[in-house]
Amino acid sequence: MNLAEHLHQEFFKIIAETADRTKTKVFVIGGFVRDLLLHRPSKDADFVVQGSGIEFAREVAKAMGNNTEAKYFENFGTAMIRKGNWELEFVGARKESYRKDSRKPIVENGTLADDQKRRDFTINAMSLSMQKHNYGELHDPFNGLEDLEKKIIKTPLDPDITFSDDPLRMMRAIRFATQLNFSIDTNTFQAISRNKNRMSIVSKERIADELNKIILADKPSVGFKLLEESGLLKVIFPQMAALKGVEVVNKKAHKDNFYHTLEVLDNVASKSDNLWLRWAAILHDIAKPVTKRYDNKVGWTFHSHEFVGAKMTKTIFKQLMLPQNEHMKYVQKLVLLHLRPIVLSKDIVTDSAVRRLLFDAGNDVDDLMQLCEADITSKNEAKVKKYLQNFKIVRRKLKEVEEKDRIRNWQPPVSGEVIMKTFGLKPSPLVGDIKTAIREAILDGVIPNEFEPAYRFMLKEGEKQGLTLENNLINQ
Ligand code: CTP
Repeated sequence: MNLAEHLHQEFFKIIAETADRTKTKVFVIGGFVRDLLLHRPSKDADFVVQGSGIEFAREVAKAMGNNTEAKYFENFGTAMIRKGNWELEFVGARKESYRKDSRKPIVENGTLADDQKRRDFTINAMSLSMQKHNYGELHDPFNGLEDLEKKIIKTPLDPDITFSDDPLRMMRAIRFATQLNFSIDTNTFQAISRNKNRMSIVSKERIADELNKIILADKPSVGFKLLEESGLLKVIFPQMAALKGVEVVNKKAHKDNFYHTLEVLDNVASKSDNLWLRWAAILHDIAKPVTKRYDNKVGWTFHSHEFVGAKMTKTIFKQLMLPQNEHMKYVQKLVLLHLRPIVLSKDIVTDSAVRRLLFDAGNDVDDLMQLCEADITSKNEAKVKKYLQNFKIVRRKLKEVEEKDRIRNWQPPVSGEVIMKTFGLKPSPLVGDIKTAIREAILDGVIPNEFEPAYRFMLKEGEKQGLTLENNLINQ
């Protein structure tokens, strides 16, 4: 098979000319070839060079012109050239063997064939020639093309060897299966189970990277089911593995929270590409196993799982090396508040309850509503219909109250400064108490969210506390 007519980019021509001029054997390999055959867009291409990848890249950069951005990593024997939106990587063909306790390879020079067999999957081991005489010809020693057609992820060598060379490939297998909607060859899958504990030598950042790619796939549940079945989930994310299972007491069973969580995650994924909203779906019930109790009167309860879950969010983000920044805080907030709209929709929706939700959720209130709608996974259609109907009412009410009271990004109409100036106070807990009293009065609808009424309310509060008026800022 020859794919020359699909190599449209200008840089292929330059690379082929440079290969010819310097008499170097060069091949484009891996993800680029796979994605070309799958008609998936790509923006990076890896080139394997029989000889020095760095020297060849220097020649290519020269041929591309003066302002070509190129980086050379002498320690790793690799080079990177940026051309427009593209990242081109050059590496010498490797006959690599890996040390048992590390991912860092001991590199020896090899041929294209040596390099291909040390790659992760048959579908990622295909290459196209850059040589003049057979430009664009496919080299496919492990029948990757056939596996692409059969939609199979399979290692080129014995999977125990491929995975012990680099255990991250076990996650990559599951990630590709999820992204591409492929299945994993039985032998390869069994090797994942056997080698799962080797994940301990892989850096947490690389694991998180793969996990996030699974989460960002169209149907992330596919990946989580494979992670669970292979036993990898328990190794990398035990709290999520603990969601699985159903306990029965007095013939009463609770639902399997693992599969419920996956349904919620897929529901969210079908509506939003926001990685962190998807994380909130994963973590919304994460504390159910640790808060689970059986009560003879009411059956299974998971009291406070939203509070405990919000706490666990921080620990889990730390453990998985996910950021400890506003993204984590956002997930924490959604986990903490995920029951509130449901409670609201069951009761008569009062303005003050809606105001409180707007105050607590702020700008994330729409995402919270999305999460809550996704959380309705009942098989009872009438029930689902009723809930969704109620949520519509909550959404309408949220809009009405927000338009009226502007609570979403609430700034207190009377600041601490004003309170101190009015009563001649220094910063103290009393100032905070007065501020809280004003906020509560606004949220309860006792006073509107405006300066003057809030100021008058503050004067009354000060009086109650026995404070003397030093500066009055409004006409009474
Ligand atoms: N590769 C490998 N083992 C790894 C990582 C990568 O054998 N642990 C090889 C594969 O041949 C892969 C190529 O290096 O195709 C490039 O890797 P990378 O850029 O990480 O992945 P892609 O296959 O290009 O896919 P994606 O961009 O979706 O990550």
